[in-house]
Amino acid sequence: MTWHILGAGSLGGLWAARLARTGLPVRLILRDRARLAGYRRLGGLTLVEPEQTSLYPIPAQTPDDPEPIDRLLLACKAYDAEEAVASVAARLTPGAELILLQNGLGSQDAVAARLPRARCILASSTEGAFRDDNFRVVFAGQGFTWLGDPREPTAPAWLAELHAAGIPHQWTPDILARLWRKLALNCAINPLTVLHTCRNGGLAEHAAEVAGLCDELVELLRACGQDSAAEDLQAEVERVIQATAANYSSMYQDVAHGRRTEIGYLLGHALAEAQRHDLSLPRLDELHRRLSAHLTRLGLPTR
Ligand code: PAF
Repeated sequence: MTWHILGAGSLGGLWAARLARTGLPVRLILRDRARLAGYRRLGGLTLVEPEQTSLYPIPAQTPDDPEPIDRLLLACKAYDAEEAVASVAARLTPGAELILLQNGLGSQDAVAARLPRARCILASSTEGAFRDDNFRVVFAGQGFTWLGDPREPTAPAWLAELHAAGIPHQWTPDILARLWRKLALNCAINPLTVLHTCRNGGLAEHAAEVAGLCDELVELLRACGQDSAAEDLQAEVERVIQATAANYSSMYQDVAHGRRTEIGYLLGHALAEAQRHDLSLPRLDELHRRLSAHLTRLGLPTR
């Protein structure tokens, strides 16, 4: 079965190259004809790895291509997910499977609501890669991808293809716990790195602020029935800050490059859920307010 990949950014590109070099059929879906023409001029997607750099001439198409889609990897940003899926919705076969690789929470439900007949598999990934404008993906270190379907615990047979392609992954019956845990880590670390203009390690100097946010995130996770995601959250946040001390967080990098952030799917989603559960979380509220004001000053969206 063909892998259609929509959103040939860093992670989408990484999956596309690894699946294609295993001999599996892959199609990239590019936004429009201009992008498709640019891609074709380059002759394909380049993957830069520590040991080798290779060009993969993966066939590409635009969303209006007539080819039916049975399996779609949606690898765009959370704020683009709904619109991206709408652009190919008419091509999805009944019972099509989607793998949703978005950060944070909120976009997955929006996509699933649009496609009641499709199976939506959620993914939470720590894989690292960067992509430039010339369809060159630079592999930035081994990570891991958790996959699961909150509505249907049976793992799909195509996980064997990911295995064959060397994509490190595991199926989990509780993908929501993974997604919530990552959301909490991102909420505790990323906005503060933007507001304090520092690398992740710089947050060691703001330990009390981080601890206060962790307390409220634990309260929220428990209220949402995510007890396992709440367990030892602060200790893990501190561990991640140490382990990634030299890195700039993904949100920091987005802001530094003048790109839209995923604030709406991280802090925005956390606060919407808090409201739904009648929870008052003053520190997270204040963080959201400060970050929104900062983004507005820079002319960036706050959603
Ligand atoms: O978003 C990020 O940058 C990362 O997920 C992490 C590790 C939470 C912070 O750098």
